[in-house]
Amino acid sequence: MAVRTAQDAASLTRAQGVPGAEQTFPKGFMWGVATAEYQNSGDDGTSNWSEFEREGHVAEKSGIAADGYRRYAEDLDLAKGMGLNSYRMSLEWSRIEPRRGVFDPDAISHYHAVIDAAIARGLTPVVTLSHFTYPAWLDHPLSGGPGGWESPETVIEFRDFAFWAAQEYGSKVRYWLTLNEPNGEALTGYLVGVFAPGKRNPLAYSRVLDHFNQAHRAAYGAIKSVYPGAMVSFNPFVFKYQKGAAARAESLNPNQNAMLDAAMGYGQASASCTLDYVAFDYYYALNTGNFYDVLHDWDWPVYPQGLYETCQDLYHRYHLPLMIAENGLATRSDHTRSDGWTASAYVVNHLAQLRRAMAEGVPVLGYMLWSLTDNYEWGSFEPRFGLFTIDRKDPSLTRLRTEAADTYQAIATHDGLTPALLERYLGKSH
Ligand code: BGC
Repeated sequence: MAVRTAQDAASLTRAQGVPGAEQTFPKGFMWGVATAEYQNSGDDGTSNWSEFEREGHVAEKSGIAADGYRRYAEDLDLAKGMGLNSYRMSLEWSRIEPRRGVFDPDAISHYHAVIDAAIARGLTPVVTLSHFTYPAWLDHPLSGGPGGWESPETVIEFRDFAFWAAQEYGSKVRYWLTLNEPNGEALTGYLVGVFAPGKRNPLAYSRVLDHFNQAHRAAYGAIKSVYPGAMVSFNPFVFKYQKGAAARAESLNPNQNAMLDAAMGYGQASASCTLDYVAFDYYYALNTGNFYDVLHDWDWPVYPQGLYETCQDLYHRYHLPLMIAENGLATRSDHTRSDGWTASAYVVNHLAQLRRAMAEGVPVLGYMLWSLTDNYEWGSFEPRFGLFTIDRKDPSLTRLRTEAADTYQAIATHDGLTPALLERYLGKSH
């Protein structure tokens, strides 16, 4: 059906099972952007990714990335200007503790300043403890064994860092994410070898998954021992697997379920849940034909309904409120997607599916769009996820507003999808 008017859009919405009259989201819904410190601020010289870059494993080095370390106030103004009420950020552990047991007071104050600046702008901080990075000294454990997440020492150090972070920042931060996409980090870092530490070793991969399970559980306990009212989760990478091009996506990926099951305390002697909400990142659907492309290309197969299905799957499995910790579309300056998907259409269609799940009773705390500005995409600046884009050739790294920022602003300020947005984008890729 051609969508010409708001009424058309509403009836299409109903036809798709999205109640048209209820495209508003509940009051207090968290509208945010998701960011990560290394991707915003770049190489600090002391993290595992600094070493990975130095060893020459990346096409492009991060440098100062988007210069986020100095420009956080300006960036938070952009988030506030769009009418957002939340801000997902990460702490750079290696800046805080560049050498084992040696803490940098300037870095500690810096993250206080960022959190304070977010709160002053009405943005609730959602703080990730480790977003793919950790201090390089963890690659050289005292035991002399394999380092990084292969080492059980890293689990202990991470628990201690979580405890320290809760004591330091916990009076200001309610929402925590211990580990960003541990299933993704294990896969890319220890099995496929494209992220630090660049290993391709199935044994290391399974050891690392096990350590991530332990690390989340330990960090959860550490944070809750300081602030029992804190809301703690981790955010696995979730994708839908499509059986055949047209068929409904069928299953969740097994390692993500194993980690969530472990965090829920399934299979433990006494039920011990270590999740206060289920956070997850959702970007696309896979099928047997596109698996390799997804790893090497940015034209990810867009499947908005997968967000609805994932919400249903996760809520009915875990019965906890959900948070979308990441969702977004990369564009590239020199390339238009062959299927035409734009960032605005992507966001509107995913939010329509999210609203559909909520209308059917799935509780969702918030939606963190990836990302506020273009940033360092782990080896390259080519994919551009930012609502504000940055021309890498411009030495001033000026943030340039994109059309998707207007779209997201309209959504956040109206607490939902406006008739104009539905009319323009619902069921369409651009
Ligand atoms: C990661 C981000 C990354 C984004 C887009 C997620 O896997 O958490 O660090 O930039 O996806 O690729």
